Amino acid sequence: MEHTFLEQGVATGSAIDEALPADAVPSDAVPSDAVPVTGSQPDVLPDLTSASRPGTRRSVHCEDALPWLSQHAPLAGCSIITSLPDVSGLPGLSLQAWREWFVSAAELVLAATPDEGVTIFYQTDIKRDGVWVDKGQLCQRAAERGESALLWHKIVCRRPAGQPNFGRPAFSHLLCYSRGVRDQPSPAYPDVLPATGKMTWSQAMGVAACELACRYVLTHTSTRTIVDPFCGHGTVLAVANQLGLDAVGVELSRKRAQRARNLQLLSADRTGAGTSGAVR
Ligand SMILES: C[S@@+](CC[C@H](N)C(=O)[O-])C[C@H]1O[C@@H](n2cnc3c(N)ncnc32)[C@H](O)[C@@H]1O
Repeated sequence: MEHTFLEQGVATGSAIDEALPADAVPSDAVPSDAVPVTGSQPDVLPDLTSASRPGTRRSVHCEDALPWLSQHAPLAGCSIITSLPDVSGLPGLSLQAWREWFVSAAELVLAATPDEGVTIFYQTDIKRDGVWVDKGQLCQRAAERGESALLWHKIVCRRPAGQPNFGRPAFSHLLCYSRGVRDQPSPAYPDVLPATGKMTWSQAMGVAACELACRYVLTHTSTRTIVDPFCGHGTVLAVANQLGLDAVGVELSRKRAQRARNLQLLSADRTGAGTSGAVR
């Protein structure tokens, strides 16, 4: 499947950081409740496979994902793996306004996924004033507004299980939705990932979670292009390329989009791969 938005090494769209008011551009500041980055090394990730996969393509568009998704839906031949921004990444919005934004954005993401593809959300809950905000529930609300079914809901540990914790939740949700695909017994994947894997920055999706999500796309769908409309530093894109999938990212921040274009996997340890025994 050839896409106009997927060109080798080409970044299209306008870089808009400078054009927006300061509060419209997500800052690089680490939220106060962020879990510390483990083994952070900005542009270097562990190699995921013994064989490299030449010829995969990556394109990163520096623009607002919402109009981009509307414009390109349905993304034929694609699955979407993404993490929607937290309220701390949209400082102009109240918690209630952000909730509504989140559900509408998730709805757009689900609507842009073609029937042959899946949408996988990686989201970490937050707490505000002693109240838990469940992003899994927000994703589910979006899915119920469309016709997407929940295929699975996995838990990714951000801290070892069994330890007391009061700050940001010690686990993330990994949620898979589709209109046309249904889950199959083989190959099976773990419901609980013991670690999220190496993270390139505080808001990153860990490499182990990216790997599970990309491998699920490979083994359970016919789609071979991964789209991350909120791609940040491009962890999902880099893992997808490493596993032989083409990748398309959209990112509002010029700085992050540039990182996402350049993020590469290197031959190194496979710390935090986290899916051993389940991936083929
Ligand atoms: C949770 S982070 C994604 C992290 C990413 N998965 C990674 O591993 O680096 C969400 C990203 O969405 C970006 N963002 C926020 N609003 C956006 C919008 N309207 N369009 C595109 N990107 C946006 C933020 O700049 C941020 O980098």
